[in-house]
Amino acid sequence: MSTSARRSVRLQWQGRDDPPAPPAAPACRVAHRHGPTGSGNQLWLGDNHGVLTALRPQLAGRVDLIVIDPPFALGKPRHQRVTPAGDDGPRQLPAFEDTWKGGLAGYLTMLEPRLLLMRELLADHGLLVVHVDHRAHPYLRVLLDELFGADHLVNDIVWSYRSGGGSRQRLGCKHDNLMVYARTGQHTFNAEEMRVPYDAAIARSRQAAFHPEGKVAGDVWDISRPPNHSAEWTGYPTQKPLALVERLVRAFAPANGLVADFFCGAATTAVAAHRLGRRWLAVDANPAAVHIGRKRLAELGAAFEVWTTSDAGCGAAGAPRAQVLPSGAPVSWSVLDAPGGIDAVDYWAVDFAGDPNGPFVHDWSAGRMPRRGELPRLSAPGPRGPRPPRVLVVDVAGHEWISACPDTANGPPEAAPA
Ligand SMILES: C[S@@+](CC[C@H](N)C(=O)[O-])C[C@H]1O[C@@H](n2cnc3c(N)ncnc32)[C@H](O)[C@@H]1O
Repeated sequence: MSTSARRSVRLQWQGRDDPPAPPAAPACRVAHRHGPTGSGNQLWLGDNHGVLTALRPQLAGRVDLIVIDPPFALGKPRHQRVTPAGDDGPRQLPAFEDTWKGGLAGYLTMLEPRLLLMRELLADHGLLVVHVDHRAHPYLRVLLDELFGADHLVNDIVWSYRSGGGSRQRLGCKHDNLMVYARTGQHTFNAEEMRVPYDAAIARSRQAAFHPEGKVAGDVWDISRPPNHSAEWTGYPTQKPLALVERLVRAFAPANGLVADFFCGAATTAVAAHRLGRRWLAVDANPAAVHIGRKRLAELGAAFEVWTTSDAGCGAAGAPRAQVLPSGAPVSWSVLDAPGGIDAVDYWAVDFAGDPNGPFVHDWSAGRMPRRGELPRLSAPGPRGPRPPRVLVVDVAGHEWISACPDTANGPPEAAPA
C-alpha cells in the first residue's frame, strides 16, 4: 500500500462519523449443556457485538484476560478443510469473510465498538491481547493506544513461526504481533511462570546473583504452528498453536481467573484456559468454528454451556433419522441418516431426558473417528423416562438437527423418528 493510501486510511478512519447508537442486546438462550451445571464456562454462537452487549450487565469489570485473534483484513475469504466420510476426500468449506467495506478503514470501524465493549468487561487488573499480522498491526496499535492509553501498552509480542514457503520478491513474512494492553496501571503478570534458561552458562562464582529458575522471557516467541498432520490441527483456517496461547494465559491470567475470546475460531483460547485451570468464555459467529470448539472442549471433559443469540441458528429443528435397536440390554443406538446425508455427519449426541423446552443435554456424545471414518454407536439402556430421548446430529459445517428418538418399548425397532 502506498504512503498516500495509508494516510487516507488513517484520515478516513479519523474522520468517520460517530458510530450509530448500539443496537439493543439480542435475546439469548442456552442451546446445549455439556457436563454438570455451574461451571460458568460458555461457548457462544453469534456476532460478538450482540454477545458483548448482552454480557455487559453481568460481566462488566469481571474478566481477567481477553485474548482475540480477529480476521486480519486480508481482503479474501478463508476456507476450512473438512474430510467427510466416503470416498470424495477432503473438501474446502467457506469459513469466514475477511473483506471489509471501505477496506482497512471499514475493518477498524468494525473493531472499534467491539474493543470498547471488551475494555468495559475487563477487571481493573485485566488485560487485552490483540493478535494481528504485520499489515494490520500499525493501525491497530494506534487505535488501541487511543482506546487504552499508550502508557497501558504492556508488551508488543512478536510471534515468530517459520513455517510456510518463501518468496522471490521479499524476505519471508514469518511473524505476527500480539499487543498486550492493561485496563489500568495495575495488571496481572505471573513473572515466575515465564522463566526461561539463561542464554549462556553462568560462571560458578557469579551463580548466586542469578535466579535459579532462569530469566523472565523476552517478547520474541519462537513457536511452531501445529503441522497439518498433528493431532492438534483441526482444519480450521488461522488456528493458532496451543503452546502460544497457553503462554499468554500463564503470563497474564490469575489462577482460576476468567479468560475470554470474542473471535474464538477453533476455541484455542478456551482449550488453553481449560487446560490451565482457568474459567473461560468463547464466541464465534461461524457455526463450524463453534462445533470444532465444542468437540475439542468435550474431548477434554470440560463442563460448559453453548449459548446462542436469537440471530444465530443453533439447534435448528429437523429430522435426523436415528434408530434404537433392542439387542438385549443394553440396546444399540445409531444414526441412520441426516438432512445433509450420513457421510457429512461429524458428531451425534443423545439427551436422555428429552425435555423439548430445555437445552439439549449431551448425556452421551461421539465424534466421527478420525482415521476409520466410522460414526460410533451407543450401547446403553433403551429409553426409560416419560419423554422420548432426543438425538442431535451435527454435520462437518456445524449445522445441527435435533429430533425425538423412537421409543423401542412401544414401536417396532426399525421405526425412524418423525
Ligand atoms: C482468525 S480466526 C480465529 C482463530 C482462532 N484464534 C483459533 O485458534 O482457531 C477469526 C474468527 O473470528 C470470527 N469472527 C469474525 N467476525 C466475527 C464477529 N463479528 N463475531 C464473532 N466472531 C467473528 C470468524 O468466524 C473466525 O472464526
